[in-house]
Amino acid sequence: MTLKSEVSKRKTFAIISHPDAGKTTLTEKLLLFGNLIRSAGTVKGKKSGKFATSDWMEIEKQRGISVTSSVMNFPYKDFKVNILDTPGHEDFSEDTYRTLTAVDSVVMIIDATKGIEAQTIKLFKVCKMRGIPIFTFINKMDREGREPLELLEQIEEVLDIETYPMNWPAGMGKRFLGIFDRYHKQFVKFNGNEAETFIPYEQLEQPEHEELVQNPTYEETKDELALLDEAGDEFSIDAILRGEQTPVFFGSALAPFGVETFFDTFIDMAPNPKPRKTTEGLIQPEREDFSGFIFKIQANMNPAHRDRVAFLRVCSGKFERGMTVKLPRTNKTIKLSQTQQFVASSRDTVDEAYPGDIIGIYDPGVYRIGDTLLTGKDNFVYDELPQFPPELFKRVTAKNVMKSKQFKKGLEQLVQEGAIQLFTGHPMETYIIGAVGELQYQVFEHRMKHEYNVDVMLESIGERIPRWLELEQVDTTLFDERNLLVKDREGGFLVLFKNDFALRWFEDKHKDIKLIDLFEVN
Ligand code: G4P
Repeated sequence: MTLKSEVSKRKTFAIISHPDAGKTTLTEKLLLFGNLIRSAGTVKGKKSGKFATSDWMEIEKQRGISVTSSVMNFPYKDFKVNILDTPGHEDFSEDTYRTLTAVDSVVMIIDATKGIEAQTIKLFKVCKMRGIPIFTFINKMDREGREPLELLEQIEEVLDIETYPMNWPAGMGKRFLGIFDRYHKQFVKFNGNEAETFIPYEQLEQPEHEELVQNPTYEETKDELALLDEAGDEFSIDAILRGEQTPVFFGSALAPFGVETFFDTFIDMAPNPKPRKTTEGLIQPEREDFSGFIFKIQANMNPAHRDRVAFLRVCSGKFERGMTVKLPRTNKTIKLSQTQQFVASSRDTVDEAYPGDIIGIYDPGVYRIGDTLLTGKDNFVYDELPQFPPELFKRVTAKNVMKSKQFKKGLEQLVQEGAIQLFTGHPMETYIIGAVGELQYQVFEHRMKHEYNVDVMLESIGERIPRWLELEQVDTTLFDERNLLVKDREGGFLVLFKNDFALRWFEDKHKDIKLIDLFEVN
């Protein structure tokens, strides 16, 4: 098969949602359709822990989450699907954001009974900001939820995106009759646990559907539908691919209802791997020579080996196990012989991979997040991964001052790996760790203890609003604990504001000082 046709088969996406919205349930159903598993319940042993395949850290076991089985691939019809997991809010880390740089689209699941939940807004917004095509699945229509129109309005308002309902629900909960599939022009009848039935619009008038058509809920929905056709946004695949419109599907992951139609349509519309920006301009996925970039490094997946695995997104050419690649950052060549692919809950050796695929490569400590690996005559690197501003900050010290050497070494390595962000106080040199989620601190503490043999003390300075300063010199007397002056690793100054009020007060008082919000820059 040619490289071009391999590229056209790839669909690489992340599912983003608030915990409990139904991500696991939906993923299981997709795997079922892909015939990858015979019965649902094997994606992750969330409740029972029975299927947890990796126990690289006690944290993982304690919390019942699977940090490591974060990539899955499976065949679906003619396609090869790669799903990247993004942990939900409290398990949030910068990895979550970085994962989004490795996908071509996202599926956003929203619980119809709850709407968009506050903790997930930032994740959704990052997708919108980066122009990633967003496909929305509104789940749990078998339960009494919010009004569909209200849900659409919320998505439009929060994400500043157009919505196009691909289908429209007739009732919900106990009154749920099914959906008008606007895209395929058919009514899909909800039959509880039984398989759904598909009735083309023109057949709805036939006598056997009389009961359905005369149902008051059906009647009401037809009126809503007419209104939508008249006043709603026009469907535009271009706008979807630019990330300016989201197609919205209503359904139930549990039933399952509307899942297969959703996925078939998604597979049809979701983009294949696209050209990506590098220092030498755009690189096409069809470029003969292999290239890719590392977006995540996972330590200690196997406690017996203390190994690290770098997650690489293939961007061009064909990857073959054992191939020798260049690492432009260090000018070294590396033979990639220990590689893994991630299939549902197991990790298999991968012999070849194509653009869009994610592979795990053994990392003896040579890689950094954002590294480009490539073959061929050219020498380029993929665009730097955006740095996401942390929101939580803690001061860190070694419990035992005698261990300061190991402490600094551990700190340095974990920062390089991208596990945490490090800031130093100014002018007093204290260490402050920034993270986007609490889990990052737990991982940090655990790894400092087990890998560097250092017990650390973390003292929270709370959630902070970081703003960067474009100044080489600063008047340190302007700052105190409420607006804490620190330096980042490159020596750039930033201020950690205690709250919105402190930020506004400072802005008011020092109009001449420009404050930069990295979230807006990225
Ligand atoms: P998550 O991965 O996003 O955290 O969510 P998960 O799929 O685990 O689903 C969370 C809960 O919502 C589960 O119930 C699940 O059965 C339920 N759920 C998922 N999709 C639907 C749906 O379409 N309709 C309804 N009514 N419920 C749905 P649980 O009681 O927490 O767990 P379990 O004991 O059923 O596994």
